[in-house]
Amino acid sequence: MNDKSLFTPLQIGDLTLANRIALPPLTRCRSEQPGNVPGEMMVDYYRQRASAGFMVTEGTQIEPRGQGYAWTPGIHSAEQIAGWKKVTEAVHQEGGTLFCQLWHVGRVSHSELQPAKLQPVAPSAVAVTGVRVFIETGPGEGMLTAPSEPRELTTAEVKEIVGLYRQAAENAKEAGFDGVELHAANGYLINQFISEHSNFRTDEYGGTLANRLRFLQEIVTEVSAVFGNQRVGVRFAPLFTSTSEDRVYLGLVESDPYTTYITAAKMLDSLKVGYLSIAEADWDNSPELPEDFRSALRAAFSGVIMYAGRYTQEKAERVLQQGWGDLFGFGRTFIANPDLPYRLRNGYSLNAVDAASLYGGTRKGYTDYPFYPS
Ligand SMILES: Cc1cc2nc3c(=O)[nH]c(=O)nc-3n(C[C@H](O)[C@H](O)[C@H](O)COP(=O)(O)O)c2cc1C
Repeated sequence: MNDKSLFTPLQIGDLTLANRIALPPLTRCRSEQPGNVPGEMMVDYYRQRASAGFMVTEGTQIEPRGQGYAWTPGIHSAEQIAGWKKVTEAVHQEGGTLFCQLWHVGRVSHSELQPAKLQPVAPSAVAVTGVRVFIETGPGEGMLTAPSEPRELTTAEVKEIVGLYRQAAENAKEAGFDGVELHAANGYLINQFISEHSNFRTDEYGGTLANRLRFLQEIVTEVSAVFGNQRVGVRFAPLFTSTSEDRVYLGLVESDPYTTYITAAKMLDSLKVGYLSIAEADWDNSPELPEDFRSALRAAFSGVIMYAGRYTQEKAERVLQQGWGDLFGFGRTFIANPDLPYRLRNGYSLNAVDAASLYGGTRKGYTDYPFYPS
């Protein structure tokens, strides 16, 4: 036990975070169209939340094929880089720290979202079940639908995508981000390589766990060359039990999640990345992450560990004082409370989140949540 609180400063490499309350990556589908460009609305949203000790952007596609939902922003075009520059400038003016979450959805996409309406790409030609993608049906309108059948990437194409991650990191640097987080969670491309349910490759990227982790390892090495390894984070979503078979096919439940993710954490430790972010189960009545996993993760990884998933201040401080975690993402709570650190520090009441305005739309439910009356 220790006596740290959420307001004890934290170091990630050369970055000093004023508190341990983080804005975790949150897809809000409000980029400007056409082109999936961050605009003024997004500048205001991130500026409002810059009192977080640490912020990560919503999932941001590294290339056109990496998109699985309409209106999510990218970081591959000049217009997108220019848009993000305004976001990072606004956050830095407020003293905040912002990492860009680099995202490639792989098979969790639809041909309507793909260049030339081609098939989405994946480690293996195995369709995903239990998840829906969101496609545009008209200006500002869209619908949820099943992902399209993916096609298997060739070995050369896998290596090209590793290069696209590096390019995206270069773009993020140009846009003024403080670092990048690799989205290796929630059944998207990197997770598809790691999972035994979605990777049936016979080349060096499939088969053994070491091979299934190779894609991630190569990407970490490339983006670390751009930002420095301490400015790189990796997000996993290890699930140990599931109430739904779909979560198995999504690639989220491994037959031995403990071995998979502790091995991955050791690999990231040897690559000396700045932080490891763990997305815990976050639905109603979701299972708790086993404590032996939390302590094994702490032993395996010497950098900062961030947790998110239905955290309250009390739960975060308990995990912090146990020594299992250092930094805590408050997702839906931060959406609804732009001044969350101020409210938590003073024990003030919290606004409730409006679920209907989470994905897409206007400033309503995005930049209009009230600050605590002063
Ligand atoms: C609207 C919404 C969008 C999300 N988008 C992302 C995302 O882009 N990338 C990601 O890694 N996790 C994403 N998540 C997961 C969150 O980062 C976080 O782990 C989750 O909301 C649990 O935290 P909470 O219970 O405090 O909301 C999203 C969650 C929500 C509710």
